[in-house]
Amino acid sequence: MWEADSDDLFADVPQKRARGPRRVTGELTSDDLDVERTLRPKTLDDYCGQQRVRENLRVLIQAARDRNEPLDHVIFSGPPGLGKTTLAGVVANEMGARLHTTSGPAIERTGDLAAILTNLEEGDVLFVDEIHRLNHQVEEVLYPAMEDFFLDIVIGKGPAARSIRLDIPHFTLVGATTRTGLLTGPLRDRFGISYRLDYYSVGELTQIVLRSATILGVEIDEQAAAEIASRSRGTPRLANRLLKRVRDYAQVKASGAITWEIAAEALAFFEIDELGLDWMDIKILTALTKTFRGRPVGLTTIASAVGEDPSTLEDVYEPYLLQTGLITRTPQGRQAMPAAFEHLGIVPPASQK
Ligand SMILES: Nc1ncnc2c1ncn2[C@@H]1O[C@H](COP(=O)(O)OP(=O)(O)OP(=O)(O)O)[C@@H](O)[C@H]1O
Ligand SMILES: [Mg+2]
Repeated sequence: MWEADSDDLFADVPQKRARGPRRVTGELTSDDLDVERTLRPKTLDDYCGQQRVRENLRVLIQAARDRNEPLDHVIFSGPPGLGKTTLAGVVANEMGARLHTTSGPAIERTGDLAAILTNLEEGDVLFVDEIHRLNHQVEEVLYPAMEDFFLDIVIGKGPAARSIRLDIPHFTLVGATTRTGLLTGPLRDRFGISYRLDYYSVGELTQIVLRSATILGVEIDEQAAAEIASRSRGTPRLANRLLKRVRDYAQVKASGAITWEIAAEALAFFEIDELGLDWMDIKILTALTKTFRGRPVGLTTIASAVGEDPSTLEDVYEPYLLQTGLITRTPQGRQAMPAAFEHLGIVPPASQK
């Protein structure tokens, strides 16, 4: 059963990483949030791409359902906007389970966690977003809850303190993280099922754009959808956002229908980077090509040059730049590839040509 207000629960999940100046591909407006909610797939059939994850989950969910047991704990990792929160909802829906949503930073004390866990019912799904941000004490309490479904709670302080053990219902914990590197070993080990989401292909994103256009009631042809998809940085969230901007343009400047010409015009009008790169991507590429002139550079050096945390660079930005062949990783560090110079319109140093 999908709780009537579960989509509203999603709205509470903090949206992240709106950095730098406002860009079309950057911050979320409240309008964007509404659209995200309506476009979020609710079943495995609606969920496009990530074929391996989907096929795997289908088998595991069916097996658990046939045995009348809750699904094992699941963790989804990967860069922002690839569908981790969406999958958490899909898992609950496909299991016919109630979904409860919270996030690592929201569970400040062990008492908060105890309150959440003792309110669960058998088979419920508890989604913890940004699970790498749980604090140490809370994590310690979570371990036995995940493994053996009990809580040890200490009541009182000093010599009068005593510990009581509470049984909790068998539930499924679904965790999401953009930062696998920050997950502690013991926590990672307690998830029976673990998936890393990859960037989507242009073909998959095209399907997502077409599906979203149908939901939004926008007329669009496949070529136009593919053009939007190719500038979406492999990310469904961006694909949906660009579609919405192009829809606005088509409505004001044309008849409302999105043809390839209209899409190309709109994307140029909004200055969407041809590769869908955002402000931080460009900053990183500029540092590697201009500041460091194509030499290999260590992660922490790049991080301080662009003013970003090294692990965010590694987990959030680097994967897409590597995948598109704009940068490479060598034993000496990260290095700009010829494509990066070309993309920024910079003449590469002689050694790079
Ligand atoms: N596989 C998919 N098929 C169709 N739409 C998708 C898919 N994955 C994501 N989306 C769309 O992209 C939007 C962003 O997805 P979601 O919020 O699940 O990303 P996330 O991985 O949780 O990101 P973050 O790390 O920022 O929390 C969703 O609103 C949904 O509409
Ligand atoms: Mg999310």
